[in-house]
Amino acid sequence: MMRRLKFTLGAVAAIALSASAMASEVAPDAVEFTDDGVTMSLTGVPGDPVAGADAFKNKSLGNCLACHVNASMATEQFHGDVGPALDGVASRWEEPELRAILVNSKKALSEETLMPGFYSMEVGKNVAEKFVGKTILTAQQVEDVLAYLGTLKE
Ligand code: HEC
Repeated sequence: MMRRLKFTLGAVAAIALSASAMASEVAPDAVEFTDDGVTMSLTGVPGDPVAGADAFKNKSLGNCLACHVNASMATEQFHGDVGPALDGVASRWEEPELRAILVNSKKALSEETLMPGFYSMEVGKNVAEKFVGKTILTAQQVEDVLAYLGTLKE
């Protein structure tokens, strides 16, 4: 009896915790796309460009490097060129546009793009098992990658 009660209390606490962590985040299906892109931060917490650069390279996170390179990452191994080089990308696009591209490239760029949607339940075609029902990046990781892209100015 005691053990059971303990378990129940623990579960309630865990739910309460995750609910408060989520409270300030915009859920993937609630992200608002406007003509300017996604104007509102997904978390309200400024992105960290250093964490963003890590997510950009990390194969189990953004793995942006598999398709994009830029001068500051040219010495990294295994970079690809399926997508355009991202040098100066922050001079070509406004921040809300870049956020929209990261959240859901199918909406922001084109239905046909090979780029995955990183904060969308429609991640893309032939999605790895581990991403079914999840977003590839968390809301904060999107903001971090965005902050990193913001450093890529011409
Ligand atoms: C599977 C390959 C792939 C991955 C992974 C990928 N992209 Fe892309 N990305 C593309 C392609 C292809 C385009 C060009 C748009 C199109 O499809 O026509 C693109 C376009 C872009 C653009 C617009 C660039 C411009 O100059 O117009 C940005 C910004 C971008 N990607 C950022 C990212 C970031 C950041 C990540 C990681 C979080 C990422 N991409 C991951 C393939 C990819």
